[in-house]
Amino acid sequence: MIEVSICVGSSCHLKGAPEVVNIFKKLHKEYELTDKVHLKASFCQGHCTNGVAVNIDGETIIGVNPENAPIKFKEYLIEGDSSGSIN
Ligand code: FES
Repeated sequence: MIEVSICVGSSCHLKGAPEVVNIFKKLHKEYELTDKVHLKASFCQGHCTNGVAVNIDGETIIGVNPENAPIKFKEYLIEGDSSGSIN
């Protein structure tokens, strides 16, 4: 199971964390990843100036926002690696 924690601390909240959560939830369902990926919200991850912060199995991704959330989701959770081929 891949653990995904989306920061919903106050700074990330202001940067669109609630929308990022909704986008991740929607794609999580759409791609039928409920058996493979566990989504949860987290408190501050210590990257407030570069939020929204999302931790995927111990790797922190910063700068996630409602615009790039679908790209980040696909890059890290569909393609299954972090080769950075999509930006
Ligand atoms: S509030 Fe999200 S990293 Fe601090």
